[in-house]
Amino acid sequence: MAEDTHALDRPPEGANADWTIPQNWERFTAEEHATWDTLYQRQIKLLPGRASDAYLRGLDQLKLSESGIPNFEELSDRLEKLTGWRVVAVPGLVPDDVFFDHMANRRFVAGNFIRRPDQLDYLQEPDVFHDVFGHVPMLADPVFADYAAAYGRGGLRALEHDAIKYLSRLYWYTVEFGLIRQGEDLRIYGSGIVSSYGESIFALDDPSPNRIAFDLKRVMRTEYRIDDYQQNYFVIPSFDELLRVTVETDFAPLYAEIKALPDIPVAEIVEGDELITRGTQDYARSKLAA
Ligand code: PHE
Ligand code: FE
Repeated sequence: MAEDTHALDRPPEGANADWTIPQNWERFTAEEHATWDTLYQRQIKLLPGRASDAYLRGLDQLKLSESGIPNFEELSDRLEKLTGWRVVAVPGLVPDDVFFDHMANRRFVAGNFIRRPDQLDYLQEPDVFHDVFGHVPMLADPVFADYAAAYGRGGLRALEHDAIKYLSRLYWYTVEFGLIRQGEDLRIYGSGIVSSYGESIFALDDPSPNRIAFDLKRVMRTEYRIDDYQQNYFVIPSFDELLRVTVETDFAPLYAEIKALPDIPVAEIVEGDELITRGTQDYARSKLAA
């Protein structure tokens, strides 16, 4: 995830200049593959009817139902035929410019470790389950694949405008935690949700969070939390519309405008919000009281 800070500013020993490393798939133990299977089985029971059709289609097309941690070469060969994207392994978080450059060139960087069996529910650093199960199915969708590549180009541009904070929020509230309208339904498509057992339920069913119609400027002004379920979700009308509005808008003047405005705290509702659900925020409050 590009929004997090990272300790290193050059590739660690053994990594390539672009920070990639061999996945070294053979190294994963039977226990590690079993952790993937456990996580997979848990999510797959939940996601039909909850995840967007585009996500479910990608899961199917990429054959992610096969047992064990996917081999990135095989996965990339399938994905590349669909949308031109490949998956490459990196040791952990990489600098923003490296991350954006890979995305702009349709390479998705994925963590090369899997969480321990006692961390099934909660993890701060993205592991291979989050990165592959969470992100890669959406990259099999042609429209979303274009959006993600455009985001990479936009990231390189945002660096020049000193606006990473704002662009990262767009990533957070779409790629990581996005909801979409699908017919009469709301569905999840954000990787942080679809790869989380608890949040796959919470994001759609819980009365606590606000669910607000997506608005680009509003999203870019909105803070987010990395330590617990979101207090806000933003709902896009379609992937076509997300792609259209982000590609057609020149972000440079938008950044300049937003820099003069205050950030919006996580649970705040502002003038102009189109609320799909006004949240009670009971969940966040109960956590605070505990
Ligand atoms: N249009 C954006 C810009 O001018 C680039 C972008 C496209 C960013 C798609 C995110 C997603 O910087
Ligand atoms: Fe992620």
